[in-house]
Amino acid sequence: MGYALARAFSRLDHQVILVSGPTALDLPDRVDFLPVETAQQMFDAVAHVIGSCDIAIFCAAVADYRVETIAPQKIKKHSDTLTLHLVKNPDILGSARNIMGFTGYLVGFAAETENLEAHARTKLVQKSCDMVIANDVSQAGIGFDSSDNQVWLIEPEENTALPLDSKEHLAHHLAAIITQRASQKFSARE
Ligand code: C5P
Repeated sequence: MGYALARAFSRLDHQVILVSGPTALDLPDRVDFLPVETAQQMFDAVAHVIGSCDIAIFCAAVADYRVETIAPQKIKKHSDTLTLHLVKNPDILGSARNIMGFTGYLVGFAAETENLEAHARTKLVQKSCDMVIANDVSQAGIGFDSSDNQVWLIEPEENTALPLDSKEHLAHHLAAIITQRASQKFSARE
């Protein structure tokens, strides 16, 4: 979805910075690419560039936890069970406003399995987003591992269901809506 959005915004003549972990996807034309491998690297890359952005969209499925220590050598199977100690990764989207000081149009994603609209609205408020794009990942055929998706747009004043669509087509639809909403936000400030 992130690559489809980067492509769609680039086609609308936005200048796009794509911060991404490793994927097998082709890089869209005319985007600045910042490759990262860890959540901390993604946090640092976003913190470095977000000040120059009008719109920031967070759709990476960042791991919530990471292993506390990385073994320098292969871990041998000495026992029947193995306990890994995990520590929390930084919440990059949740840091955009209060730590990175982003004042532009902020979009988060929410993958939910129940109470989609309510959970996504909590995320909208907690992470100070202008919009959360939510999808129900418990439904087969949409979202993860599928070329189609069906999403809800959760905004301060309303929730809107968009029709089931290919991710590519949906990305163009979302890019147009986000561009329009961001312009409204910026013109209301003037
Ligand atoms: O709270 P939750 O992980 O469900 O929120 C999902 C949103 O938060 C997505 O936009 C995702 O890109 C972002 N996120 C993040 N950093 C994390 C975890 C999630 O920016 N460590």
